[in-house]
Amino acid sequence: MEMLGGRTIEDIRRDFPIFRNRPNLAYLDTAATSHMPSVVLEAMVDFEVNYRANVHRGLYPEAELATNAYESARAEVAAFIAAEPAEVSFTSGSTASLQMLAAMLGPRLKPGDNILVSSMEHHSALLPFKQIAVERGAMVTTVQHDADYRLDLTTFQLMLNNRTKIVVITAVSNVLGTVNPIADIVQEAHKHGAIVIVDAAQYIPHLALSVKEWGADAVVSSAHKMYGPLGVGVLYIEKSLGLTLTPSNLGGGMMLEVTSSITTFAEAPHKFESGTPNIPGVIGLAAATRYLSSLGWSNIIAREEAMTRLLIVGLLSLGDIAIIGPLTMDNRIGVISFTVPGLHPHDLATILGEQGVAIRVGHHCAMPLVSSIVPGGVARASLGLYTTEEDISRLIQGIKFARQTLS
Ligand SMILES: Cc1ncc(COP(=O)(O)O)c(C=O)c1O
Repeated sequence: MEMLGGRTIEDIRRDFPIFRNRPNLAYLDTAATSHMPSVVLEAMVDFEVNYRANVHRGLYPEAELATNAYESARAEVAAFIAAEPAEVSFTSGSTASLQMLAAMLGPRLKPGDNILVSSMEHHSALLPFKQIAVERGAMVTTVQHDADYRLDLTTFQLMLNNRTKIVVITAVSNVLGTVNPIADIVQEAHKHGAIVIVDAAQYIPHLALSVKEWGADAVVSSAHKMYGPLGVGVLYIEKSLGLTLTPSNLGGGMMLEVTSSITTFAEAPHKFESGTPNIPGVIGLAAATRYLSSLGWSNIIAREEAMTRLLIVGLLSLGDIAIIGPLTMDNRIGVISFTVPGLHPHDLATILGEQGVAIRVGHHCAMPLVSSIVPGGVARASLGLYTTEEDISRLIQGIKFARQTLS
């Protein structure tokens, strides 16, 4: 049995109130949202009941405590992704971060410019960039995945040219579980002077993230997929890019001076944080990074790899299940989409749900990708660090039961 930071999987499960309260829940939907350990909830409750105040505004002790906690959280989150604190802004999540980036970078595009995306992009990455392309007379071109559900780097290189101004790429596909070679992609894109935006929403809960190793210009993620709270996310903008960007969201807390004729923005990261931020959310997110670090990446990766392998073997043992994603473990994580011949994914999910097995079905906010493979949508089981052998076995038994019931 793999140990996580010297602790057994039973210890880990006890960290998560949901599994104490719902012992029969086989939760296989972590890619949609993860559960939170008590330490995250406690950090947020501590703020709410002991020093709730707005940040960067008040001079009384509670306000200073809140500001200090918020800025220490920023420093911790920055260290967690190997960034500098000034490069880390907090938003409401990946979707908000990507929209801000599209709004800030859009005015740079000229007619005939190109935004290069992969076939694996989530709607939250694809749609804002499609929209600015329309507005600016630019184009969006797509690098397709290959037959093994991996990105074809050679095609990627061929599609880059000096009209490529922005590359939008997901680090891990939320449908296929494929891990993309971000450092290589960034290197190639930079040869053409393109700005690279990386969607790390599905990467950050499963693998150690170093924005510096990637060399990306901007990276987004959401706390709720990495054992943190809902409604908060990280927008990393590399220092030199941040200096050149004019904020798209204007309001309190992000200006230096405002007169009737001039407006001077504060420096990053504050210029990207208008209005009152989600203070308990940011404090909870920092607690989630501490929790992950306490378990240790090599332990998390080993545990999740074992569970992913078990799930793939279990699904394949059913005979005719099609796994939509890589079958080998290299550069893949435990987000596993599949189809069951003769069963509509919605019927499957409903029957599994009745048995306490939570999966997701549909197009997974990646309609161009899923529709091109299975027009009606796919079922998806996604693992977290708390997933057990029993969860997986209950899924496999549940699929068998659903087939018997509906045939
Ligand atoms: C790859 C990917 N990018 C972006 C998002 C959007 O994240 P959020 O809904 O937290 O903004 C998701 C959510 O599922 C995702 O899987």
